[in-house]
Amino acid sequence: MTRMIRIFDTTLRDGEQSPGASMNLEEKVMIAKQLARLGVDIIEAGFAYSSPGDFEAVRQIAQQVEGPTICSLARARPEDIDRAWEALKGAPKVRIHTFLSTSDIHLKHQFRMTRKEALKRAVEMVERARGYVRDVEFSPMDASRSDVNYLCEVIEAVIAAGAGTVNIPDTVGYATPQEFGRLIATIRKKVKNSRKAVISVHCHNDLGLAVANSLAAIAAGAGQGECTVNGIGERAGNASMEEIVMGLRTRKDFYKADTKIRTEEIAKTSRLVSQITGMVVQPNKAIVGANAFAHTSGIHQDGLLKEKSTYEIMRPESIGLGKMQLVMGKLSGRHAFRKRLEDLGYELTDEEVNQAFDRFKRLADQKKEIFEEDLETILSEQIRRIPERYVLKTLFAQSGTGQVPTATVELEIDGQVMKQTGTGDGPVDAAYRTIAAMTGTKSRLLQYVVKAITGGTDAQGEVSVRVEDAGKTTSGNGADTDIIVASAKAYLNALNKLAYWASKNQDPNQKIGLV
Ligand code: KIV
Ligand code: ZN
Repeated sequence: MTRMIRIFDTTLRDGEQSPGASMNLEEKVMIAKQLARLGVDIIEAGFAYSSPGDFEAVRQIAQQVEGPTICSLARARPEDIDRAWEALKGAPKVRIHTFLSTSDIHLKHQFRMTRKEALKRAVEMVERARGYVRDVEFSPMDASRSDVNYLCEVIEAVIAAGAGTVNIPDTVGYATPQEFGRLIATIRKKVKNSRKAVISVHCHNDLGLAVANSLAAIAAGAGQGECTVNGIGERAGNASMEEIVMGLRTRKDFYKADTKIRTEEIAKTSRLVSQITGMVVQPNKAIVGANAFAHTSGIHQDGLLKEKSTYEIMRPESIGLGKMQLVMGKLSGRHAFRKRLEDLGYELTDEEVNQAFDRFKRLADQKKEIFEEDLETILSEQIRRIPERYVLKTLFAQSGTGQVPTATVELEIDGQVMKQTGTGDGPVDAAYRTIAAMTGTKSRLLQYVVKAITGGTDAQGEVSVRVEDAGKTTSGNGADTDIIVASAKAYLNALNKLAYWASKNQDPNQKIGLV
């Protein structure tokens, strides 16, 4: 019989802990709605106590997103549990996820607690959370480096206190698949009441084993996998959602387990998370990398032409790739446009449709055929827009052999239009130097990546940048059929985010720590 494994998505919480990947409220709600379309069972929407932004994100997602259970993380402290409940209350399906370390290393050096104190606190906090909600999850942090007898004692006690899910984290990515599988089997055997709770796993990727460890744990009886889209997360990241899901789906014969995920939504979800966080997916990443389905070897191509199963273990269509669907062109009307957006799962107000339609028409003037990916870019740029201190009005760049690359940039800054010309090593450098001079920024460009959104020489180029200013890191994105313009848009998007946070005297990455 096939077991159904719950997918607990923590892109918005652990994923957001990736340096520079902080998201604003609208972006988080947008991702949460897509996760609901994807069919995840639980969304960890944030850590309500950690910052006002996280609190609001948990609250809004709990109110607006239908389908999955919405969860907030909470340290094993009364104030955290209460705050999580405040953010979640009123929503139909909610969970409080509380955690406390069980390893001696953490207890001694970080929490300064004895094992006995930690066990008592864990039980009390599970009971407190149960006073608010029926669905409580407990994580013994650093479980994989904990004394197994003590770990089992804590697990038994929290289940008795009402935890319906016990999550076993490999917090520092230290475990190996064999060992981690054995740990889950031991817990299921030794903990007398273990059948009363779902055993979950949460693996980090420091040794590149997060997915392997998660799958080993599932094979050993775990019933929930915690993961993030594209595997983003603290340090080397978390187990990647798409790899766990497709691993189970493709090797159902072996794992005898599957998930409720609508895999056709995977590629779209991956693109959205990458665009919003500015975390570019490496081309050779399993499942969602640009080369994941690209066969270049002649022998492979020959086999594929004869019979797909010779070299293809998954169909690109199964994750929503396949043939690019032509969406519309220059002559498409507003009505058809709205209908197409609805078919793609976007619910927009009239005003949002009108704005998107104007952008679509402008793009259709530059590009003959508009694909679903182009529409996604238009919409995510529009929905994610933050108040813009710097607005790009025009850009003219010149470069070529034997020429000094030059850019003339016209910007509106705080409502005033100004124009300046500058030079650089290339047209992008010239544009960036000119923008830097005009805005007076002291920021450093840490990363610059350009990629084509669709095929063809008239494709839109999408540029992602990562920028650092006085210790604050943020990302920026921009798309255009002209990559110099896309580059300027991405840089300005990042500078606008920094200016926005500075005006609010906030650091987007600033939250209280987990301990
Ligand atoms: O990695 C970890 O241990 C965590 C816990 C809070 C579950 O993220
Ligand atoms: Zn984690």
